[in-house]
Amino acid sequence: MTEYDGFELLVEGLIEKRYGVCDNLFSVELVQGLRQNLYRYAAEGEMHPAGIGRRFDFQKNTEVRGDLIRWINVEEQNAHELAFISCMERFIQHLNSTCYTALNGFEFHYASYEAGSFYKRHLDQFKSEKGRKFSFVLYLNDGWDESEGGRLSLYMDEQRVESVFPLGGRCVFFKSDEMEHEVHPAPNRNRISIAGWLKNV
Ligand code: OGA
Ligand code: MN
Repeated sequence: MTEYDGFELLVEGLIEKRYGVCDNLFSVELVQGLRQNLYRYAAEGEMHPAGIGRRFDFQKNTEVRGDLIRWINVEEQNAHELAFISCMERFIQHLNSTCYTALNGFEFHYASYEAGSFYKRHLDQFKSEKGRKFSFVLYLNDGWDESEGGRLSLYMDEQRVESVFPLGGRCVFFKSDEMEHEVHPAPNRNRISIAGWLKNV
């Protein structure tokens, strides 16, 4: 699949069912490199509970979310982060030129949900932070079996909930202010990703 086809698949999903999924926008090597980065940051003690990060003041509340995060710092990206971020910049250009989205910023963090941790049903746009327009998650797990749990629930409406499992290399894309979603625990496995937002600031 070309990058363009991947972008189109994500956009088509967004238009047709309010979320897009693509399993091979990124090469296996890139996903591996990003996974190794995450493990290295974890080993170096750089993954911290979400909510005490430098950018947001939302509640540090382990009742709501239990992931450890590390922001990708655009000034000190390594080769894999550079490849990921430049793809996201091209995706922003694609969205701006095909969907009139007027995006002009982004932010991404690594996320690690240790076995049993979760993120309760939520929206990604906060009252204090309206700049997040689209959410984008890339899963970094080395394979994933549905029996391991850890699904992402997307609340389509009160009757219908759809599930996306965090298979390595899969990415998910939806509107930050509309799509309520929830990360379910994987009882016996660490669940890793890069999650981020395409913004208008
Ligand atoms: C988030 C989030 C979804 C996922 O980080 O805000 O909802 O599947 N992540 O990891
Ligand atoms: Mn979210």
